[in-house]
Amino acid sequence: MAATRTSNLDSVFYRDADSFFSANSEVGLTFDDVTLATLYSEVLPSQTQLDSRLADTLHLNIPIVSADMDTVTESRLATALALNGGLGLIHYNMPEKDQLWHVSRVKYHVQGLIQDPIKVSPDQLIGDVLKLIEEKNFGFSTFPVVDAEDKLVGLLSGHVVKPRYASKKVAEALTPRSQVHTITRKELGKDPIAIADKFFTEHLGIHKLLVVDDEDRLHGLITMSDVEKITQERKAQFKPARDSQFRLLCGAAVSATRNAFGELDRDRILGHVGALVERGLDVVAVSTAHGHTKGVGDTVRVLRDAFPKLPIIAGNVTSASGVEFLADCGASVIKIGQGPGSICTTRIVAGVGIPQMTALHICTKAAAAKKVSILADVGITKSGDIVKALTLSHGVICGGILAGCTESPGEVIEIGGKLYKQYRGMGSLAAMKAGSAARYGHEKSDTTRKVAAEGIEALKEESGPLDRVLATLIGGIQSGMGYLGAADLEQLREKARYIRVSPAGQREAAPHDVVELKTRS
Ligand code: XMP
Repeated sequence: MAATRTSNLDSVFYRDADSFFSANSEVGLTFDDVTLATLYSEVLPSQTQLDSRLADTLHLNIPIVSADMDTVTESRLATALALNGGLGLIHYNMPEKDQLWHVSRVKYHVQGLIQDPIKVSPDQLIGDVLKLIEEKNFGFSTFPVVDAEDKLVGLLSGHVVKPRYASKKVAEALTPRSQVHTITRKELGKDPIAIADKFFTEHLGIHKLLVVDDEDRLHGLITMSDVEKITQERKAQFKPARDSQFRLLCGAAVSATRNAFGELDRDRILGHVGALVERGLDVVAVSTAHGHTKGVGDTVRVLRDAFPKLPIIAGNVTSASGVEFLADCGASVIKIGQGPGSICTTRIVAGVGIPQMTALHICTKAAAAKKVSILADVGITKSGDIVKALTLSHGVICGGILAGCTESPGEVIEIGGKLYKQYRGMGSLAAMKAGSAARYGHEKSDTTRKVAAEGIEALKEESGPLDRVLATLIGGIQSGMGYLGAADLEQLREKARYIRVSPAGQREAAPHDVVELKTRS
């Protein structure tokens, strides 16, 4: 009992968020300005839960989102992150059709019991099927063949979906119905994956099982590789982040695009987001440097009216009124952060922005009142920053910390025997020329005129596969939660107690007075 009693002395020095940030209201505090007090704990780090519900239909298994930046998130990184339980936001510095392609790649990455498999008809040409694969960017080439009543006619195997057979009809190339392995929906029972797993063990060399009803109409497809992945996933502590159809979660960013008359281009925004939603997009992010503006508010409103159920992330803001504004426009998740990033120069160029811990405290209070969630965006350089950010938010957005990963876009560059990857601010001149100018309230053509860049181009040391980087980050978050006795993120938010750190305290927080030896894991 004695261990759980909070001594008065502790509460004088280690304060809860309200009393700590109110007592420090005259100064903007960031991650290194504060440290978290350790608390009595019965929680082992390995037992902590990291899942976070950002919106009704947006549930992550780890609270990490990758930044919508052209040197951070395309389909490769978004897929790897979703497989680890997080969410990638595909950037918009690319033609709209390319962004659709990247979203499709994530959504079609792995499927379990595919309820509504892509099918072809016997009259189609193999060439048509090849075109479909290219257009939709399918990562598979075997398709069930059905007639006009959806009855199974056969299976078109990937072995025959080749350009050399382009002029042949599907009917000529298919494996006939009599040789296709099927199972009825009734036979699948309550645990389809276990039944399918047994089937594949008993049927040597068969990799596809089709699900039919009593009239032989097609109702699903199960593949052996998916069953194997799912069986492995069931054992993992942090499961992949998936939608209700078992597809990986994927988000995409859009800007408040304007037409030739300088007005919000509603038709274009709605057309593009509609196409993204058709591909299975789980969340759209209206991503700009200044979210507390008419343009961003109008974009969020237009999207909310057109897609009432789609989670919308909007930002960035650093004030309570900014959070309230975006929540009132219809945003479900608000991005917090202006200027603390390693490639950001907004504070230097424009003289604005708020240190991140203070901004998060103010915004999280406004968000709670509006029943929306917030993401701590910008400025995270280590797992300890994530723990501090999570005491005041529902998740973090990471840019630079993921930019060196193998899966991030861009080539590895060797300089003096060391490996690097490019990392640039979306407000750097190069990125704005490539399309992100709208994010900073400029036209793309403005970039040759009087436009101040709010970001720089830089390099990050190559950091290896995302799995490895995440393992370190997640390990750190779990350690922090163990120190605070927090079994989940809600408890972390409730329990956190803060104290300011002096410059000497900051120095002693990092390794000092030693020569560090590095062993790569
Ligand atoms: P980190 O610190 O994780 O930050 O690398 C990623 C976030 O930085 C924002 N961002 C910018 N901010 N100038 C800025 O002031 C820029 O050029 C810039 N580019 C990206 C963005 O919110 C991202 O998620």
